[in-house]
Amino acid sequence: MEVRTLTTPQELFEAAAEEVVRTANEAVTQRGRFAIALSGGSTPKNLYNLLATNARTALPWDRMFFFWGDERHVPPADPDSNYRMADETMLSKIPVAAGNVFRIKAENPDAGAVAEAYEQTLRKFVAVEPGQFPRFDLILLGMGPDGHTASLFPGTRALQEKSRLVVANWVDKMKGSRISVTLPVLNAAAAVAFLVSGTDKAPALHAVLESEAPGEQYPAKLVRPSDGKLIWLIDRAAASQLSAGN
Ligand code: 6PG
Repeated sequence: MEVRTLTTPQELFEAAAEEVVRTANEAVTQRGRFAIALSGGSTPKNLYNLLATNARTALPWDRMFFFWGDERHVPPADPDSNYRMADETMLSKIPVAAGNVFRIKAENPDAGAVAEAYEQTLRKFVAVEPGQFPRFDLILLGMGPDGHTASLFPGTRALQEKSRLVVANWVDKMKGSRISVTLPVLNAAAAVAFLVSGTDKAPALHAVLESEAPGEQYPAKLVRPSDGKLIWLIDRAAASQLSAGN
């Protein structure tokens, strides 16, 4: 695990863009394609924008395949849609074929069916034996002030999932379901990169990186790729409660 503290949010996004460019080109060189799972929320917006602008010529777009780690249970045109955010900040600006973009079809009112359909999409894209998990080349993740990541919230059932790839996760405080890949999928990745910015994340980041608090309470703590790289890209504000060494 690597924790890299950048001085400003802009430096964090630039470091994240470098990580995506390096990992993408490495994957295409070694395996002919790059499968990335995007994160939602607000933090990655500037990264996606950078990838579609400054880093545009450095990426093998035609060999890149886009997935999502989670989605809100809303249609793609909804302001809360993670797909919409990535489309507006990046996908609509770059030369990527529609067939390379695998969004979570959350317009279906049946959240369970949405999760099941996306699980089939993942299984079709990466042929996995029963009991095995697809191996993304890179999964981007954020973290909430409560220590949640993707849509794996503290104390929710999805944290116990051992065999499904994608679940509909009921989140009491939102009185609604989210669609999320599960911990086994996150921990099967070749690389996971967390992007965490802002002072409001400092207490949870300390709890995740430096405390004995249980993962059930801070789900981001449960992300530990078994045979992959884990990198935390954080800005100084988010790192403000970490010990000097971090
Ligand atoms: C989502 C995300 C979620 C996000 C965190 C951080 O759908 O909201 O996938 O896990 O990464 O909530 O969100 P911010 O970047 O907005 O702080």
